[in-house]
Amino acid sequence: MTATAPLPAVTGGLPEGFRFGAATAAYQIEGAVREDGRGESIWDRFSHRMGGDTGDVACDHYHRWESDLDLMAGLGLESYRFSIAWPRVQPDGRGALNPRGVAFYRRLVEGCLERGIEPVATLYHWDLPQARQEAGGWAVRDTALRFAEYAAHMGDALGDVVQGWITHNEPWVVAILGHALGRKAPGVRDWPTALTVAHHLLLSHGLAVDALRSRVGSAPIGITLNLNPMRGDDTGAVARMDAHQNRWFLDPVLRGTYPVELLEHYQRTFGPLPSLNPEDLDVISRPIDFLGVNYYSPTVVRASAEPPLQASAVAARGRVTAMGWEVDAGGLYDLLLRLRADYGDLEIWITENGAAFDDERLVDGVVEDASRVAYLSEHLDALRRAVADGVNVARYHAWSLLDNFEWEHGYDKRFGIVRVDYATQERILKRSALWYRDHIAAERGGR
Ligand code: NOJ
Repeated sequence: MTATAPLPAVTGGLPEGFRFGAATAAYQIEGAVREDGRGESIWDRFSHRMGGDTGDVACDHYHRWESDLDLMAGLGLESYRFSIAWPRVQPDGRGALNPRGVAFYRRLVEGCLERGIEPVATLYHWDLPQARQEAGGWAVRDTALRFAEYAAHMGDALGDVVQGWITHNEPWVVAILGHALGRKAPGVRDWPTALTVAHHLLLSHGLAVDALRSRVGSAPIGITLNLNPMRGDDTGAVARMDAHQNRWFLDPVLRGTYPVELLEHYQRTFGPLPSLNPEDLDVISRPIDFLGVNYYSPTVVRASAEPPLQASAVAARGRVTAMGWEVDAGGLYDLLLRLRADYGDLEIWITENGAAFDDERLVDGVVEDASRVAYLSEHLDALRRAVADGVNVARYHAWSLLDNFEWEHGYDKRFGIVRVDYATQERILKRSALWYRDHIAAERGGR
């Protein structure tokens, strides 16, 4: 593994080696969906079927990766979390690799290293090869085995240069929003299928950890979960929602068990769930080097008649983002402390944190996004408090480097610290990018 130069000590109470970065995902920024042998993904199929925006062009990052890396270097970023599009490197999700796709990621990763930025690769940020979907998708166990093969290929192809590996991004979203509620690709609405999918995603995570472990040297390996602290007065409803969204993934990965009350509740509701083979928990709970946390907001829960949980999320009030998500940095602090209390002293990487806002004004060539500056600065303060209270956080990635394709919301929701003018593909700095640059520089003692 090629290591980037050691960083000077961080001054503001963060641990030595702490890195600040930004995150993106392939389908949200790359475009070039038919180029250089890339295969179709479920998001190509789904977005075209929905008839709205698609990722066909997105931020055209596939062609602009070099200047995008220069942009990151100019901001002083130290870690770049990107994702590998499975159908770009293995168009059908099985069999031979597509060398032109692999070459793209090698160029990107080497470009990071040349600029002193540590590349962190996510293997699955939701773009399953369509051919795998046609073979049953994540609802069939075979897809987990194919994923492990893909992970092994990526370990062989990029294990000497990638500095951190993330197997999955937000498996709850894939399982529940993709297969129970149908809001995301592949658009299925069936709860028992969604629970099977969640299990196969978890299994594929464990298999991929094994595949990577022997191939990537000492590069750390983890998984990214979307975690929301649950708030509300009805302790039963809060506990069910927490078990459903947070513990359903945390417990198998970190303890080798499913939350038993919720498992029984699901079995009472849906009947036996034979695909959730308990023998897989051994593989699912393979040791990982860090837990990736995506944090955006807390969830307020109330008891309700809504199946299958008899609990619902309440619409946020007070300060909200353009997504309608409550702004509450205290939620990040609470979450980090809870992870330490319940799961021990594991290393945590914030793999995403950020916000979409509409009120962005261009003033003298800079997009003034005061709300995003406030969001980032409050959350970094919360992170610092958690670190001071003993939580082992080693990285922070803002979501996102660029405005991008926000899935079923298209291009309307802008999460970037850099604005993208989609008509010209021009990148325009937002105040938040300049603020983040200065924040990192101050941490490094004006380096
Ligand atoms: C989490 C997802 O990983 C990312 O793809 C998405 O854009 C952000 N949340 C914002 O919704």
